[in-house]
Amino acid sequence: MFAFSSVVYSNPYNNRMDEFIDNLMSKMTLEEKIGQLNLPASGEIITGQAKSSNVAERICKGQVGGLLNLKGVERIRDLQKLAVEESRLGIPLLFGMDVIHGYETIFPIPLGLSCTWNMEAIEQSARIAAIEASADGICWTFSPMVDVCRDARWGRISEGNGEDPYLGSEIARAMVRGYQGDAMKRNDEIMACVKHFALYGGAEAGRDYNSVDMSRQRMFNDYMPPYKAAVEAGAGSMMAAFNDVDGIPATGNKWLMTDLLRKDWGFDGFVVSDYTGITEMVDHGMGDVQDVAALSVNAGVDMDMVSDAFMTTLVRSVEEGKVSEETIDTACRRILEAKYKLGLFEDPYKYCDLKRPAKQIFCDKHRKIARKIAAESFVLLKNEGNILPLQKKGTVAVIGPLANTKANMPGTWSVAAVAENIPTLVEGMRFALGDKVDIITAKGSNLMSDAAYEERATMFGRSLNRDSRTDQQLLNEALEVAAKADVIVAAIGESSEMSGECSSRSELDIPDTQRTLLEALLKTGKPVVLTLFTGRPLVLNWEHKNVPAILNVWFGGSETGSAIADVLFGDVNPSGKLTTTFPQAVGQLPLFYAHKNTGRPLGEGRWFEKFRSNYIDVSNDPLYPFGYGLSYTTFEYGDVILNTKSMSMDGEITATVNIKNAGNYDGYEVVQLYIKDLIASVTRPVKELKGFKKIFIKAGETKTISFKISPEMLKFYNFNIDYVVEVGDFDVMIGPNSRDVKSARFTLR
Ligand code: GLC
Repeated sequence: MFAFSSVVYSNPYNNRMDEFIDNLMSKMTLEEKIGQLNLPASGEIITGQAKSSNVAERICKGQVGGLLNLKGVERIRDLQKLAVEESRLGIPLLFGMDVIHGYETIFPIPLGLSCTWNMEAIEQSARIAAIEASADGICWTFSPMVDVCRDARWGRISEGNGEDPYLGSEIARAMVRGYQGDAMKRNDEIMACVKHFALYGGAEAGRDYNSVDMSRQRMFNDYMPPYKAAVEAGAGSMMAAFNDVDGIPATGNKWLMTDLLRKDWGFDGFVVSDYTGITEMVDHGMGDVQDVAALSVNAGVDMDMVSDAFMTTLVRSVEEGKVSEETIDTACRRILEAKYKLGLFEDPYKYCDLKRPAKQIFCDKHRKIARKIAAESFVLLKNEGNILPLQKKGTVAVIGPLANTKANMPGTWSVAAVAENIPTLVEGMRFALGDKVDIITAKGSNLMSDAAYEERATMFGRSLNRDSRTDQQLLNEALEVAAKADVIVAAIGESSEMSGECSSRSELDIPDTQRTLLEALLKTGKPVVLTLFTGRPLVLNWEHKNVPAILNVWFGGSETGSAIADVLFGDVNPSGKLTTTFPQAVGQLPLFYAHKNTGRPLGEGRWFEKFRSNYIDVSNDPLYPFGYGLSYTTFEYGDVILNTKSMSMDGEITATVNIKNAGNYDGYEVVQLYIKDLIASVTRPVKELKGFKKIFIKAGETKTISFKISPEMLKFYNFNIDYVVEVGDFDVMIGPNSRDVKSARFTLR
């Protein structure tokens, strides 16, 4: 039995949840109910533009429903103790944090994770993140981020799962399962928070926080599916997006937060605003603080992250009739239900076991798994003359501003990472290779010449690893080191602060100081392998033309260095496939494979034709298409064979293809299934991903892969936003990426 200060319930957890909460709420004042809707920030992790103050005092007054950004189980336990023993009703607090791709053991950034196309691995990464975060007192993570994005200028493309709604939905489900496990019963299962609802990845011009304006068809066919999938997977909470949707900010959008999310989709958890998202509606032009707080809670947002708008205005709004007490009760109940589902009423210290951190956080077992998943996330973009894999012998020079930095290895949104514990690329490679290879190194250049990024590094508390030496001094040292090497590994790319929140870029080249370094390294005539660190697609035309081998390692997390060694030296055959298109030019953006045909399509393989839908200065093609990624071996695809050419509405078709590993390395291949709806009541994409299988094929072996195709898979949202399937002809396409496919046609009758 658990005693709440002056209020004692006999066996509260044997009663049904609603009876327990009815009982509790019958004792709460209006201000205490509003207190449950308040989420101040605490601790030294800063993830937004404001900080909360006098948190302890407000906890004792029952004015806090939860806290975010506090790290350390002892500190969390102390504040939980304050809530439970010092406030009038002793209601326990939620403790949330952005555990996006790992806690202290850091996995690849989500965009990298998505390139594994391995749902088990992605679920496992979330499971381990939940184990480590919960060991440190966290019971709620602001993840998964499932915003579809097709514009690489947007820095938060790094946090999502790429451009495709089908793949994004599969990953959303896997992440929710990983975090929440079996309904959050165990103390290593935490509540997910799906974000950012909704359409945040569609910000105009890729500029963060910018307006989003799209048709309902594009919303429902291309951007909404991953949110819906996460709701269906049982996610306990959602986070409102900063942007507007149909002219109303998501944080105050009743159509979004109530009509769609709750009435249509049946979501029964709670909605939290994003960081000061409520008061930011003043700048959106929706009214003063009291107006926007009322707009938000009336729309269906239940918790106010950091803005204090609920705490400071809702009592008055209820008195003035702008918000009903019933609305407050509904929001408060949702928060209390979340706490009940997490078991916090049964045991407020469920996540405060002081013995767990030493055993479970950043442990070898987790790090080994993170190393394996990181290697699986890397995408081999080019391997001319099979320069890779390298032999484990001789001298290898690892040169570049990302060769000897710890802070940049985990990538954006690694708020709990302990940078000093993370091996640099060189340290990781030496750990993996031992004395087999002599690794020498030099910095070669700074990450960038633009001091503007320095401010961002300060904000996120990471060093930009800037050097006091001049660029020329750095370059001279690099060339001296390169002269001693058999092979050069160039550790080059973005800094981790160049992607993530408020990190939109108008140009997508590798920073100029690093291009100069790369040119100089190539001029040595030694073999050069570019290990590319990036949080987004970059424009790599020059690199693709001039560098013989390019391995995109994204930001691979705490085990990046060893994972890169595993791939570069052939212990792991790369199998990553792009989940977002790499353009030839920024001017092509937004650029994605599932585009419409238009009434003036450009002929296949054509660069330019008069009066066709194309540019006069670049082809419509990407540099690297969605689904693309090389291996150390080669996979040869046979024709697509259908077991029948027509299907009825209750029928099914099986598409089969033979795939041969024609090379010398065993390897994994991600076989992708696309479908095109040739004629429909609305214009449909030239193809859409409808399935994939990651298979292992030994060198010289051939495997037969089959996909079942049903009418359900052919559904789409039509002009009236009805989810329908229409009879007609369809093309089935199967291949190693969205471009190089083989096709067969069937009719749905
Ligand atoms: C940030 C982000 C959001 C994050 C929240 C809490 O502004 O937009 O993704 O979960 O604040 O840190």
